[in-house]
Amino acid sequence: MSSDVDASRTGKARRIPIYRTLPALARNPLRAFEEIGRDTDGEVVQLDLGLHRPYLVSRPEDMQHVLRDRADNYVRDGMLWKPLRRLFGNGLGMDGPDWARSRQLMLPVFSARNVATIMDELTAALTEAVEELDPYARREEPIDTRVEMTRIIHRALIRVFIGDGMSTADADRLGHAVTAGFTSIGPRLLLPFVPDSVPLPGDGAFMRAVRLADSIVTPLVRQRQRDGATGDDLVSLLCRARDENGDPLDEELVRNDVVAMFAGASETSAVTLTWLWVVLDGHPEIAARVYDEVDRVIGDGKPGPAHVPKLVYTKQVLQELLRLYPVGWVIPRSAKETDVVGGVEIPAGSTVLASPYLTHRMERYWERPYDFDPERFSPERSGRRVPSSYVPFGLGAHQCLGSHFFMVEAQLIVAIMLSRYRVRLRDSAPVVPQAAATLRPRGRVEVMLSYRSPQ
Ligand code: HEM
Repeated sequence: MSSDVDASRTGKARRIPIYRTLPALARNPLRAFEEIGRDTDGEVVQLDLGLHRPYLVSRPEDMQHVLRDRADNYVRDGMLWKPLRRLFGNGLGMDGPDWARSRQLMLPVFSARNVATIMDELTAALTEAVEELDPYARREEPIDTRVEMTRIIHRALIRVFIGDGMSTADADRLGHAVTAGFTSIGPRLLLPFVPDSVPLPGDGAFMRAVRLADSIVTPLVRQRQRDGATGDDLVSLLCRARDENGDPLDEELVRNDVVAMFAGASETSAVTLTWLWVVLDGHPEIAARVYDEVDRVIGDGKPGPAHVPKLVYTKQVLQELLRLYPVGWVIPRSAKETDVVGGVEIPAGSTVLASPYLTHRMERYWERPYDFDPERFSPERSGRRVPSSYVPFGLGAHQCLGSHFFMVEAQLIVAIMLSRYRVRLRDSAPVVPQAAATLRPRGRVEVMLSYRSPQ
């Protein structure tokens, strides 16, 4: 049991009988989840889902406890992680010694200094990928935003992290495999206690996605190993790495880390950027300020790395977007030993759901939490924020490695898109969030692009 907790204040968690509110849950699971958050005001409670009874954690200090201070006790296992293990294998996407070694190896790749060195390449890849949207603008046809944002993100990731070893067609196929993996995992997420040997819907599609990812990444790893892995790309870096005995990582570990990095980077970024167009369409006054900033900063030129630090308001919009729509809406963990969180006993083996989605909507930390207000992230107001009340990239041991990369990439995408096109939603019906492995918009989000200046 955690030593820094006053045991006299320790009690059993209040149980929230979800099955009683099942109709509400079935209609809109996220709304029901939000209501629980509001009613309990961040208290650690246990959700009674029948066979499954996870604990819900959302106060900043409790998030710190679970994700940072006692990360050794709250591990990636059970819900979400057990099914994902089939895609990621051991390494960066999981926990334990293989994870620790991979994280250590990858840290320098994501440092602000290294991201600065790949900015030209990143800009070129993003510009080419965005320009492929031209035919839609010319023909006045809608684009499926998630599909196109995913394509743009994948092209950039492959170019800057994998180099020239992968064709555009393979980049798109790998992207497709990762998206299919995340989509088909749904039933296993809802039923984490069902053993792998019992088939569930989505398993077939999931295993096809795993095989497809293998068929693209494994030959690439072998190729790099044969060539001596001299390049600066991520695959070469991993192939050159040595473990504590001086031995190279085996082929499977390199494959696992490439897939985990790719999956962690692509679905999250693409879904966030899909939300961006939805939110800008719903807030014309904020959109106008973003267009103005892009025009002022970019002028008649082409967006490039030097513009990024000047896209200040655009960055605030992206930060606020990640507050209201944190794609990692719950971060599941499994308690190894019995512990106490927020005065509540968490028995060994329990699932703990740390929820940035709820933290970001708590009135005690955020004024008018449901309003979209990028001014919250102005330099003056940012300084007043309660530590760990803003956690879209997680916290502690597993905190996102790509948060800086994402911000830079997203600012560039906004600048490239908006200096070229006016973007508006095809349909003005409200877009509803859907709580899957990530917080996605429900259904297709279609946008229309029109050129801002004659071509
Ligand atoms: C909107 C964009 C993104 C969001 C919201 C996001 C969110 C997160 C969160 C919440 C975690 C922690 C998961 C946990 O504690 O179990 C995480 C981990 C991670 N993210 Fe991101 N991420 C984003 C983009 C990226 C990008 C662009 C990259 C790489 C280029 C990346 C690479 C990773 C990696 C490698 C980890 C695992 C770190 C570890 O376990 O040690 N992410 N991300």
